[in-house]
Amino acid sequence: MSHKKILLIGPTGQVGWELQRCVQTLGEVVAVDKIDSTQAYIDLADPDSIRQVIRDVKPTIILNAAAYTAVDKAEEDAELAHAINATAVGILAEESLRLKSLLIHYSTDYVFNGKQTQPYTETDEVNPLGVYGTTKLAGEQAIEAVGGQYFILRTAWVYGLRGKNFLLTMQRLAKERNELKVVADQFGAPTWSRMIAQATTHLLTQLDSPLYQLDIDALSGIYHLTCAGKTSWYDFAKAIIAQSDKQVRVLPLTTAEYPTPTERPAYSVLSNAKLAKTFGITLPAWDRALDLCLKSVEN
Ligand SMILES: NC(=O)c1ccc[n+]([C@@H]2O[C@H](COP(=O)([O-])OP(=O)(O)OC[C@H]3O[C@@H](n4cnc5c(N)ncnc54)[C@H](OP(=O)(O)O)[C@@H]3O)[C@@H](O)[C@H]2O)c1
Repeated sequence: MSHKKILLIGPTGQVGWELQRCVQTLGEVVAVDKIDSTQAYIDLADPDSIRQVIRDVKPTIILNAAAYTAVDKAEEDAELAHAINATAVGILAEESLRLKSLLIHYSTDYVFNGKQTQPYTETDEVNPLGVYGTTKLAGEQAIEAVGGQYFILRTAWVYGLRGKNFLLTMQRLAKERNELKVVADQFGAPTWSRMIAQATTHLLTQLDSPLYQLDIDALSGIYHLTCAGKTSWYDFAKAIIAQSDKQVRVLPLTTAEYPTPTERPAYSVLSNAKLAKTFGITLPAWDRALDLCLKSVEN
């Protein structure tokens, strides 16, 4: 494999943390975050810092795992969310094109309104319900407008062993309470952050391999990347609790009984057929991935 220099943005996040471990095999990894005591400082809200770090590092691959991800808070913080999720992403695309590098960026099921009843494909109509989804969609569009070599990987319902996520929240609440009430009328596919990182590594390996001789310009675009299958938050919670060492009752709630500042898509199952057909990459069913994730704690 030819020498790769990978700029990883957001190594402290759920996906970024797993990526930092997975992509080491592909080349030299320069991880940058917004802690300004580090040498490789980047603040996606500050365009100058983005340009400077990319021009200093001159990566062959830019992996953007950073984002403004506080979905409800974004409603009151729209300007910052737009700066990080849209403006910054456009600058990443411009810098990537200038260097002729490859940009890997993550997006979300929240670009859809959730009114569909069958898995969303990459070409289905987008129509975000809130600020977070709107800014993430603007980020996708900014990359597409610039062009170059890029992969936008839309994922959903991300959880893992670090950070803020549904798995860790349920595990914490199960220790504190004997009964949990969880929304049962929103459907999606919980996706372990490690599997997103592994799939990304697999994708990068194929793109770089002389065996495949892939036309990266032609293959650039949006791809859905989630675990397989479908569940509700309620059934996901039950699966998590079933593997805990405490008896906790899990009761179903409707979305109407659990209002949030941002409306969530009621149905956000993504079809992964394009990624499977193009690269042969598929993730396991969400419940199998959850088992593997929980077992990985024991190992
Ligand atoms: N979480 C989900 O359920 C979900 C679902 C669908 C799609 N996605 C997408 O998947 C990707 C990864 O999500 P995640 O859950 O791994 O995110 P996360 O755990 O919330 O991590 C976000 C990362 O972004 C960094 N960041 C935030 N603001 C920044 C700034 N101004 N400058 C530089 N870095 C900044 C954070 O750094 P600090 O730690 O220093 O703040 C952190 O490393 C995102 O694009 C997200 O939109 C997530």
